[in-house]
Amino acid sequence: MNILPQELRGAATCLSGAGSIHNLSNQAILFGKRGVLVHGASLAAHGVLQKIQQDMSAGTDCLFWQHPGGEPTLAQLEELLEAARKHGAEWIAAVGGGSVLDIAKACAGMFHQPGTVVEYHDGAEPSRKSLPLLAAPTTAGTGSEATPVSVLTNTETGVKKSFRTKDMYAKVVILDPVLLQHCPSHVLTASGMDAITQAVESYTSRHATWYSRELAAMGFELLANTLPLAFAERNETGSISEERAEALLYGSYITGVAFSSSRLGVVHGLAHPLGARFHVPHGVCCGICLPYALELNRDSVQKLYTQLCDILGEDLIEWVRQQLSAFGMENPFSGKTLADTDAVVEEILVSGSTKANPVTVTEDIARDLLKKILA
Ligand SMILES: [Fe+2]
Repeated sequence: MNILPQELRGAATCLSGAGSIHNLSNQAILFGKRGVLVHGASLAAHGVLQKIQQDMSAGTDCLFWQHPGGEPTLAQLEELLEAARKHGAEWIAAVGGGSVLDIAKACAGMFHQPGTVVEYHDGAEPSRKSLPLLAAPTTAGTGSEATPVSVLTNTETGVKKSFRTKDMYAKVVILDPVLLQHCPSHVLTASGMDAITQAVESYTSRHATWYSRELAAMGFELLANTLPLAFAERNETGSISEERAEALLYGSYITGVAFSSSRLGVVHGLAHPLGARFHVPHGVCCGICLPYALELNRDSVQKLYTQLCDILGEDLIEWVRQQLSAFGMENPFSGKTLADTDAVVEEILVSGSTKANPVTVTEDIARDLLKKILA
């Protein structure tokens, strides 16, 4: 196994700790005065948005753009791009969950590119540099703040896929646990299962290096040990303690750093087409598909599987099933029929995540996985 990935890239600056979000404006102004801050509706709920607006008003000319919600689409990206270009943005900031981070990242990546966003979603290589991106996650998480990947859906074709360029890493990442403390329970569990899946898939990926595996193991430990406790605490008290929010946020981030070089596995190959067909949140897709993928992979990565069980102190597949049940996360695909199975199989097989899976996923395996998940 290689010690390092062939190319190691990432955020130039990562600030962390309670209150670190208040560095956003002084970091942004290093890239210029004019910028766009993308956020979700929930940011206003506990006064965070108002405080950021105050910070920004002291020296930047910042346009605030609220993401309409749901998973990001190419049509939303076109709207955001138009607003950012009209504003003459010199940087893009994102404070929000994975959808907010992904659409802001795509906006930064596409800002200077000629042509349409559809061309790049279909695979065209961007030829021009990205705008600087500053990213502060409010969920833990997709790990989007750590990766050069943006997952967007073309609602006209129904295709949900990721696109990546080497240039789309955030220049500045801010990990402030205060932003996570009021995360709604269903978002906490869905994004948490996404992060745990990413840790497992990065750990067992065929492209793993010593570097990515160490980070994925630490990410897995932080996330798996904290998520059930944070969920119980959120339900009992209405918020998550700073200490647990920090563990989840850091666990999600370092997992993102890990899989940005190691890639993932077949769960992510399944989650995109299934999520797009049945309108199921990404984290729920991941959590539901994870035990099936682990059953497929367990024997081929026996030592790694045992190491993850040792971190938990119990069997990983059993543990995942227990968490899904405790979180009330039922299989939303059960009993459903796909109208275009062949297209879904094709999307699974061409996915870069599927190609990183430790067991080579053939057409028969993909069909078998779908049959079990939809049973
Ligand atoms: Fe994911």
